Amino acid sequence: MKLNTLAATLIAVAGISLSSAALAQQDQFRALYAPIAPPKAVDLGKVELGKKLYFDPRLSKSGFISCNSCHNLSRGGSDNIPTSIGDKWQKGPINSPTVLNSSLNLAQFWDGRAADLKAQAGGPIANPGEMAFSHTLAIDMLASIPAYVREFKMVFGKDKIDIDQVTDAIAEFEKTLVTPNSRFDQWMLGKSEALTKDELAGYKLFNESGCVACHNGPNLGGNSFQKMGVVEAYKGNDGVAGRAAVTGKDADRFNFKVPTLRNVEMTYPYFHDGAANTLTEAVDTMGRLQLGKKFTQAENQQIVAFLKTLTGDQPMFTIPILPPSADSTPRPTPFK
Ligand code: HEC
Ligand code: HEC
Repeated sequence: MKLNTLAATLIAVAGISLSSAALAQQDQFRALYAPIAPPKAVDLGKVELGKKLYFDPRLSKSGFISCNSCHNLSRGGSDNIPTSIGDKWQKGPINSPTVLNSSLNLAQFWDGRAADLKAQAGGPIANPGEMAFSHTLAIDMLASIPAYVREFKMVFGKDKIDIDQVTDAIAEFEKTLVTPNSRFDQWMLGKSEALTKDELAGYKLFNESGCVACHNGPNLGGNSFQKMGVVEAYKGNDGVAGRAAVTGKDADRFNFKVPTLRNVEMTYPYFHDGAANTLTEAVDTMGRLQLGKKFTQAENQQIVAFLKTLTGDQPMFTIPILPPSADSTPRPTPFK
């Protein structure tokens, strides 16, 4: 009796008003998620080199665009604009996804055309709409800088720098870009007071309305390709093929890799076309188009509150100081 009263008081204090049956049911859902683990077993030499390359705009034709330009690590690993700006201010075709926790995704890009981070990293350097360089020019640039030559040799033990080493080092750095310790993770790990009543209500709605069907696993997404517009068509689907561009199958049209919801409060605007500016709008669209559900304003706010608990510790490191160009380093050509 006394214990029961104590439990009731504790529950009241924590602001949790769920029946024990509901709690047990939540435990079933809990198994569909997992906390983000800190980076493990990384090669520190490669990470340091990869970090420099990630921040080095000399890997672009203009000498101005680095990976960090479109995946800004001060801003949740994204650029916070609808679609990215590439070489010569070109408008990119699609929204820049976050690089945070991307090592946990089943494949890279919205359509999954790159198998992993290493396969992905060579793409933007040579993409005329992004960094507009070539792998040969990138290697010539790096090989002209003595400090880079020394560092590559130290890390890879070879006399010559090649693109494989470049992408390997960048991918290794990206493996450190994970965000553990979000309040949701703390809650999963047993700290029941880590989530407020509204956030828990949002979590419940997220599970019971069916968001969890596509947004699950450690990344709450990133582990399957799903159609955008299951119940109702999405108006922004014109002109993009989605997963069909990779598989050639008509059934995969408008299928996209389900984006991670980790750090989602930082990675606005939302969707592959960056058309939704706010989480309120994105949640409303998801409810209607994916589940045929119209959330009330209160429900929407609770789901948004839950989504904001997914922001984890952002990667912390000192900004790398890049070795200066040598006299023989090819100069950037930003304006032609
Ligand atoms: C001009 C902007 C731009 C630059 C520069 C750029 N990216 Fe991206 N990045 C994008 C866009 C846009 C996408 C999505 C493209 C798609 O899915 O078709 C993307 C996708 C990715 C992804 C896939 C994430 C996921 O979950 O699918 C990773 C990882 C990534 N970029 C890393 C890098 C690295 C490393 C560099 C530097 C070598 C880089 N990017 C340079 C814009 C950029
Ligand atoms: C049928 C699978 C499916 C269901 C169910 C689903 N989603 Fe999504 N979600 C996706 C896909 C696919 C995208 C990417 C769509 C695009 O960009 O065109 C997405 C995108 C999002 C985004 C934007 C993320 C970003 O970075 O752009 C948010 C937020 C989101 N979903 C939340 C939810 C919520 C909340 C629910 C439940 C109400 C939900 N989703 C239900 C598949 C699903």
